[in-house]
Amino acid sequence: MSQIIEPRAEDPVRVVLPRTLSAALSEAATMQMEGHRWSAQNVAAARGVLTGGGAQMLLSALAGRLDRSDPSSPGWALLALPATVGDEELQVAGAGVLAALGCPFFSIRQGNGRLWIGQETSEAKEAASFGGTGAQTLHIDAPNVEQVPEYTSLLVLRGDPAGGGVSLLGDLRAAVARLDETDREALREPVFFEGQAENLSGVGAPRMPFPVLEDDQDGQPAWVRWAGKMLRDPRNTGRTAVLERFAAALAQTTVAVTLGRGQLLVIDQRRMAHGRTALGPQQGLADGTRRWIMQAKATFDPAAPAHQVLAGAAAGRRNDA
Ligand SMILES: [Fe+2]
Repeated sequence: MSQIIEPRAEDPVRVVLPRTLSAALSEAATMQMEGHRWSAQNVAAARGVLTGGGAQMLLSALAGRLDRSDPSSPGWALLALPATVGDEELQVAGAGVLAALGCPFFSIRQGNGRLWIGQETSEAKEAASFGGTGAQTLHIDAPNVEQVPEYTSLLVLRGDPAGGGVSLLGDLRAAVARLDETDREALREPVFFEGQAENLSGVGAPRMPFPVLEDDQDGQPAWVRWAGKMLRDPRNTGRTAVLERFAAALAQTTVAVTLGRGQLLVIDQRRMAHGRTALGPQQGLADGTRRWIMQAKATFDPAAPAHQVLAGAAAGRRNDA
């Protein structure tokens, strides 16, 4: 087994979504869906609010933290939505933030097909699953499909009253850079398995087996299809040594972030893996008091306001040169 490395606790920059902006988003948009996507009308309405003035600081902070052209940008952003508004407003405002990057969607259908999936934490769920009480190893969501979701996000309705469930973020590219070329070559082979890819929306066909490391034309990592569970998957037997080395490299890059109500963690899946520590002791916690986190995905849309901010800044730099 790889050595256990304590992740560095980070007190992150929280990008504040002002109350007025949250209210404006929830006035302008609803939770109406079109299939697995937030409706086009909602996306347009949210973008109208975000580009109508009063959101420039939010947009540039979000864009700056998720700037793919800047390797020194974090690749994730933590937004502080107003914690005192209702759950519905949090979900609409959270979807509005995602619309700044792309089109919000769900990849797993739950109930009548709402955007934000997830229920109150339960000991009845498998401990390591979403909504379970155990630790979750670092992973990207849906590593085993043709179109991996570009962004994933977690919206906290209620933190763990027992003080656990700290979010972990691992830098996939920094971890790849720590490996030697022999290991990188081994990870480029399309021979790896993880879970199942059934009944998913918006992510294309299943892709299994797959390469962990998938480069673009310039030889830069396009995707690092990673899930810590791969280490224990019998289909990967015989290839676990290189997976162990990658897991150890990823652990060296990992930071820990504590999330509370109203916080929205947005993660660029091309750059960062996510996971969590175990929740605190759950005995005696009544229904309606345990941790409740929801998740939604988003596509990458170059026309979305945050990317337009970056395109505008890049054009400005070219003009200055
Ligand atoms: Fe996940």
